[in-house]
Amino acid sequence: MIGKKIAEELNKQVNREFYSAYFYLSMSAYSDFLGLKGFANWFIQKNKEETQHAMKIYKYILDQGAQMKLLPVEQPPSMFDSPLAMFENTLIHEQTVTQQFNELVDLAAAKKDHATHIFSGLSPNRSRKKPP
Ligand SMILES: [Fe+2]
Repeated sequence: MIGKKIAEELNKQVNREFYSAYFYLSMSAYSDFLGLKGFANWFIQKNKEETQHAMKIYKYILDQGAQMKLLPVEQPPSMFDSPLAMFENTLIHEQTVTQQFNELVDLAAAKKDHATHIFSGLSPNRSRKKPP
């Protein structure tokens, strides 16, 4: 069983992962609109990856006997200045989410929540050496 604060933060991370999925889906749609089918496909793959991240944490929360509380997913931007801007936004977004995840790992360590610390340390968010 995980603590209430950790559960809350994990719930927020699920939301951030779903937002990431939505963010990349929006970029995929915009790429498709521009006729950039390869970019559209790449962002669809990112969408799937982020959905998997969300579901992994979702399952962990439930496996720990904590309450899953789905939060509203923010609307992502639907237009971008250029294809380059989409990738620049991707880099900034990945750096932000990685920082948020690192803070979650730090919180788990501070709370001596070893299960969450190990779980989050093995997360794809943490194992990535460089953002895409
Ligand atoms: Fe992620």
